[in-house]
Amino acid sequence: MSGRLGGKSAFITGAARGIGFAFAEAYVREGATVVLADIDLDRARESAEKIGDGAHAVHIDVTDIASIEKAVAEAETKTGGIDILVNNAALFDMAPIIEITKESYNRLYAVNVHGVLFTMQAVARSMIRRGRGGKIINMASQAGRRGEALVAIYCSTKAAVISLTQSAGLDLIKYGINVNAIAPGVVDGEHWAGVDALFARYENRPLGEKKRLVGEAVPFGRMGRAEDLTGMAIFLAGPESDYVVAQTYNVDGGNWMS
Ligand SMILES: NC(=O)c1ccc[n+]([C@@H]2O[C@H](COP(=O)([O-])OP(=O)(O)OC[C@H]3O[C@@H](n4cnc5c(N)ncnc54)[C@H](O)[C@@H]3O)[C@@H](O)[C@H]2O)c1
Repeated sequence: MSGRLGGKSAFITGAARGIGFAFAEAYVREGATVVLADIDLDRARESAEKIGDGAHAVHIDVTDIASIEKAVAEAETKTGGIDILVNNAALFDMAPIIEITKESYNRLYAVNVHGVLFTMQAVARSMIRRGRGGKIINMASQAGRRGEALVAIYCSTKAAVISLTQSAGLDLIKYGINVNAIAPGVVDGEHWAGVDALFARYENRPLGEKKRLVGEAVPFGRMGRAEDLTGMAIFLAGPESDYVVAQTYNVDGGNWMS
């Protein structure tokens, strides 16, 4: 029971790697039991094993409501009930407006918007049944704060996450469920390798150049690391944030001010 999240259990989507994995490690360190839910079950299992006691893996495809409900039920069985949800799974893509495809639009909206809304719904129903309130943290992005010429779909999905956080935050606080979001800036990791490769293609740059430039442009002086976000994730999951409702916090080294 020791640690800031002692006795709590958390369900984190997209936790097989990257930021979700760092949150899982941090929550277990703070005393929570964590369910790493990911479409890549093998990687989620490896990641849960790396963390050790207190970490479990389940399969989830957040584009599919039946899969969400099954994963939430499995998590309830493993942990006795979910106190903390982190809606972290997301996909990135980019293209100029005149080249955007319906396939890319559908794929990103299915994970980044449908996934957030219906995982939030399934877990909120479970929290309400249990009657102990809870904490929901949605992963937005600085990309949700303003559009970018080549990133229309991703930016708009993250703006939707900020808006969903506001509506759900206002609706669910009467059940003692706090809904808030984190808006990271640029965070190094496997995700950004993919982003860099897309910028290389669309902006005709050598691989690695965009990543170097975005890192240099951060007022803090470097790209973020997943660990830079864990303090906010712990705060929003714990009792110190009980009076914080429907907010999106920038954790981005100073990139965005709002
Ligand atoms: N890395 C960044 O620079 C950055 C910046 C701003 C916001 N974010 C946001 O933070 C979150 C985590 O980012 P990351 O860099 O760790 O991403 P990542 O790509 O490393 O990890 C995403 C995870 O989601 C999983 N996933 C994909 N589709 C899924 C589905 N249908 N169902 C379940 N899981 C699925 C993947 O398997 C993967 O493990 C995302 O919401 C992302 O948009 C990241």
